[in-house]
Amino acid sequence: MTILKKIKSTLSKLKVKEIPEDIFILRLKSLVIGADMLHNGNIYLMDYALKNMPVDGVVIEIGSYGGLSTNLMLHLLKKHHRVEKLINCDPWIYEGAFDRHGEKSNSIDGRHDILREDYSTYMKTNFINSIQFLHKDNLPHSFQLTSDEFFSEYDKKVQAKDIFNQAVQLGSAISFAYIDGDHAYAYVKRDFENVDKHLMNSGFILFDDSMDDSPFGSTTFMKEMKANKNYQLVAKNPNYLFQKLA
Ligand SMILES: C[S@@+](CC[C@H](N)C(=O)[O-])C[C@H]1O[C@@H](n2cnc3c(N)ncnc32)[C@H](O)[C@@H]1O
Repeated sequence: MTILKKIKSTLSKLKVKEIPEDIFILRLKSLVIGADMLHNGNIYLMDYALKNMPVDGVVIEIGSYGGLSTNLMLHLLKKHHRVEKLINCDPWIYEGAFDRHGEKSNSIDGRHDILREDYSTYMKTNFINSIQFLHKDNLPHSFQLTSDEFFSEYDKKVQAKDIFNQAVQLGSAISFAYIDGDHAYAYVKRDFENVDKHLMNSGFILFDDSMDDSPFGSTTFMKEMKANKNYQLVAKNPNYLFQKLA
């Protein structure tokens, strides 16, 4: 990283808007795995979107990992007296550091004795435990699916059973979507297109890891979002939050 980039990155961290102190959220970060994956600025953007999103749709989360952002959004929904359901998906697959270079092994990075399939069970169990511990009276509808598999079911408007064995009718209009699954450009673009089909006018989309200068496909895709006439940029904190125009 050049010195100029370092200065820019430090300045952008200093400028991040935050919500007023919420002691549950402070605690949450040490209760649930994944603090490294949730930018503080996203909390402000989620809070804004969940407070201002159109009523009677659902909240969609793509990529749930150990449940940190899921628990956070469930907390914020309750805090703002919002009754919309949260529906999320994650295949809980292990994403290895060298997968994209075609060097995929059965084990996790740096440990040949720990299998990827065991990681999958470990992370899904973490997710379930954290949700049942913190939000047992307000469970989300969670699916062990990739976003492509999930939207294929969503588009068919099927009645489905989630991992908590709850029945839910898929296909409702979406009020807010948090896109935090596979960050490769093609996936982010497809996740956007799938959400867009169901997003209500005035609904929001937050793209994780979309901040300027990040190496992810999410950042590359922001160029198209900024040119998309059906959306307006609400805030960059430093990730991008968009609202669909009415
Ligand atoms: C950065 S983590 C999500 C972190 C989580 N939102 C949080 O803040 O606690 C990305 C997640 O996306 C999941 N993922 C990877 N490919 C996916 C896909 N095609 N569809 C949905 N989720 C995917 C991974 O299994 C991983 O758990």
